[in-house]
Amino acid sequence: MPQTIAVLDFGSQFTQVIARRIRECQVYSKIYHYATPAAQLKADGVIGIIFSGGPQSVYSPKAPHPDRAVFELGIPILGICYGLQLMGHFLGGKVAKGERREYGLGKLDISGNSPLFKGLPHSLRVWNSHGDKLTKLPKGFHPVARTENSEFAAIEDPARRFYAIQFHPEVFHSERGIEIIRNYLKGICGCTGDWSMSDFIERKIQEIRETVGKSRVILGLSGGVDSSVAAALIHRAIGKQLTCVFVDNGLLRKGEREYVVSLYKRNFKIDLRVEDATALFMRRLKGVQEPEEKRKIIGRTFVTVFEKSLKSIGKAEFLGQGTLYPDVIESVSIGNNPASLIKSHHNVGGLPERMKLKLLEPLRELFKDEVRAVGTALGLPREVVWRQPFPGPGLGVRLLGDITEEKLSILRDADAILHDEMMNSGWYWKVWQSFCVFLPVKSVGVIGDERNYAYVIAVRVVESIDAMTADWTRLPYDLLQTVSNRITNEVRGVSRVVLDISSKPPATIEWE
Ligand code: XMP
Repeated sequence: MPQTIAVLDFGSQFTQVIARRIRECQVYSKIYHYATPAAQLKADGVIGIIFSGGPQSVYSPKAPHPDRAVFELGIPILGICYGLQLMGHFLGGKVAKGERREYGLGKLDISGNSPLFKGLPHSLRVWNSHGDKLTKLPKGFHPVARTENSEFAAIEDPARRFYAIQFHPEVFHSERGIEIIRNYLKGICGCTGDWSMSDFIERKIQEIRETVGKSRVILGLSGGVDSSVAAALIHRAIGKQLTCVFVDNGLLRKGEREYVVSLYKRNFKIDLRVEDATALFMRRLKGVQEPEEKRKIIGRTFVTVFEKSLKSIGKAEFLGQGTLYPDVIESVSIGNNPASLIKSHHNVGGLPERMKLKLLEPLRELFKDEVRAVGTALGLPREVVWRQPFPGPGLGVRLLGDITEEKLSILRDADAILHDEMMNSGWYWKVWQSFCVFLPVKSVGVIGDERNYAYVIAVRVVESIDAMTADWTRLPYDLLQTVSNRITNEVRGVSRVVLDISSKPPATIEWE
């Protein structure tokens, strides 16, 4: 068993981010209910405790409080934000309503040489979010850092190994916050860094086996990173008890279905059912032009096909999903608020309730980059682990107007050429997305001596961190020229290639 750090969760939206930072330091952590009895933490052998932040005031009647005995365990404690106020409150200090709410970035001035700030400069920009503040130190403590608003922004009682900070070191905005956490883990708790992603995989495999028992798990495989990694992990745990369903909606990229089948069925020996629902999708989409209408039809039809497939598989108790911890992407910021980094969970609309399936989501505590690390450790190829996002409605939202087989075929061929050239040049890995869009307008071209009245293909290549904003990528002219030449020469039915140079906002990444 690796050394364990307990994170007591007092309701902070960043509790999972704290756990993630601890993993980044190669240390194992476990999130506990805030009131977990001290005896249990002791029995679990934890070697350090972190109090998360939380939205309450310590004086509120609903304020979550820890078991008082945690302060008697002789184990180091780091209190973050609300955690600092709790320490003040429980250990004889005083907490008062701050006159001014301290929110956003502030300057932290560090004095003395606390082990918490070892190796760090004397001034740091840190992210705060609190109303109350500590006004009187608890006995045994002294201040080690201040901000403009709080003279006790960081305090310590080295004899008892209690440390507390008013700001949030775990959020991306706090400069060198990870080093503060590492100092606590390694310098104060004595963590050696004895945990790795392969330990995570081993633990998850055990958990999946215990949860699932002899039951069957079904999983909708999209070919995207999250469902692929979830499938590989669940398969490693329970092998043949997992059945994956891949729905071919007729709106996939060239070779996509064959690729997925060859990877999962042949290489991984996963029980994979391919539902070829092309005809049904095409029938329902026939003549439909309006983008939202197209999306709705595609979404509804997917559920119908998936549901039918599940019924044919027979009794299953679990629905496996590649849900990640609300996709927090570290380097993103909207305004200055890390909370806005949080996107909502997604799952297959309404299915689990209707089909009385329990959810099995082995990746839900992880962040995208960690999921990639798990995928790599499980032996998934780079093409899957690092593949660009592809929208659920597929080429349906990249082919403007009504969808026909002829137009789809043109779009697929053009898109395959762009993909090829992006791969050959290495640019595929550097951008967020690169794809072709089919424009249902015809323009005049010339091939040899003949007039060529044919469709237009738009090339869309963007850079982004979270898809909330995006900028068009300045690809080298030579590469663009190759792509354009190849598409107009090799794809019948295209007379012209144009480049989309719109950023998001005001445009969106997809055209529909
Ligand atoms: P937009 O076009 O809104 O796209 O700028 C932002 C990101 O989301 C992807 N996208 C989708 N993904 N189902 C998905 O799973 C969808 O309906 C969908 N629509 C857009 C898009 O590819 C881009 O990465």
